[in-house]
Amino acid sequence: MSLIGAEYRINELRKALDEHNYLYYVLAQPKISDFEYDQLMKELISLENANPQFDSELSPSKRVGDDRNLEFEQAAHIFPMLSLGNTYSVEELSDFCNRVYKSIENENVEFVCELKFDGTAISLTYENGFLTKAVTRGDGAKGDIVTANVKTIKSIPLKLKGNGYPDLFEIRGEIYLPHAVFQELNVQRTEAGEAPFANPRNAASGTLKLQNSSVVAKRKLHCYLYYLASKELPAKTHSENLKLAQSWGFRVSEHTKIAHSAAEIYDFINYWSTERENLPFDIDGIVIKVNDLKLQDLLGYTAKSPRWATSYKFKAEQVQTKLLSID
Ligand code: IVH
Repeated sequence: MSLIGAEYRINELRKALDEHNYLYYVLAQPKISDFEYDQLMKELISLENANPQFDSELSPSKRVGDDRNLEFEQAAHIFPMLSLGNTYSVEELSDFCNRVYKSIENENVEFVCELKFDGTAISLTYENGFLTKAVTRGDGAKGDIVTANVKTIKSIPLKLKGNGYPDLFEIRGEIYLPHAVFQELNVQRTEAGEAPFANPRNAASGTLKLQNSSVVAKRKLHCYLYYLASKELPAKTHSENLKLAQSWGFRVSEHTKIAHSAAEIYDFINYWSTERENLPFDIDGIVIKVNDLKLQDLLGYTAKSPRWATSYKFKAEQVQTKLLSID
C-alpha cells in the first residue's frame, strides 16, 4: 500500500472504530459483531505498526473502551485494567504461543486455560483484609466506584478469611447473571411493562450501574474472580495465587487447565466449545495466560493488552447472524 493509501485507510479505520466505540459503550447499541470490530482494530494496529509516522495518542487503538457513567464518582485503578488480545483460529493461537516462546527463548512454558466469562469486569480493592472499593473498568485507567452495589453480591467477601494476603491488592473478575436469574428477571420486567434486557451481559452491566443498591441486591448478581494485581503476590504463579485467593474466600472457577502447548490449549477450547451449553451462565471464549509471574513480567504489555495472555473467541461469537423470520 502507498504511504498516502496507508494514511487514508488509517484515518478511515480510526473514524469507524470511534463511531463503533460510541455505539457500543455510550448507546449500548452495537451495529457490528465483536468479530467485525476486532478485524477492523487488527487492521488499524497492523497499519499503525507499519507506519509509525502516523501515530496518534487519539487513535482508538490506544483505548480500551469506556463504560463510565458520570453519575458515579470515579477512582483510578492502581494497576491499569487492560483488555485481552483475540485469536480466532488454531493458527492464531499457535502464533501466540510461538511469540511467547520466541520472546523468552524457551519452549517449556506453562499456560493456564480459563473460561472467558461474558459479563462485566470489576476490580475490587482489599486493604488489610477488608473490601474498600469496587470499581468498573471504565477507560482502563479509571472507572466508576460501585462499591455499594458490589457489596450486595453475596459471593464477594467483605472481610477475607485465612491469612497470607497482601496488605493492599486489587482482584479482578467478572460480574454476571446466571441464565435462570436472567430469565426470571426478564419475566418480571415484561410483567411490569418494562423492556426486557437483550442478554445476560447487558442485564449484569445495567444492574451494576443502578443508583439504588437495594434493587441491585434483589437481582442476584454472581461473580468469578480471575486475576490478582499487587506489588507483591504470595505465590510465583498465577494458578497458585488464584488457589490462595480461593482460600481467602473468593469464588474462583474450577474449570481451568494447565497446558504445555498450543495443541493442549486447543483440546480445552474444543471441549468447552460444546460443553459450554451445559454451563448455567454465558462464556464467549477461553482465556490463555502464561502461568509464571516472572515470565509475565518479561513478556510485558502493549498499550492495550498483556503479551502474556490472549483470548480465543468461540466460532458462534465470531459472526453476526441475521434472523430472517420466526414461525
Ligand atoms: S484476565 C490482564 N481472565 O475479558 C488480564 N479476563 O477481553 C486481565 N474476562 O476485560 C483479564 N473472563 O473482563 C481474564 N478468565 C478471564 C476472563 C477475563 C472474562 C474478560 C475481562 C476482560 C475481557 C478481555
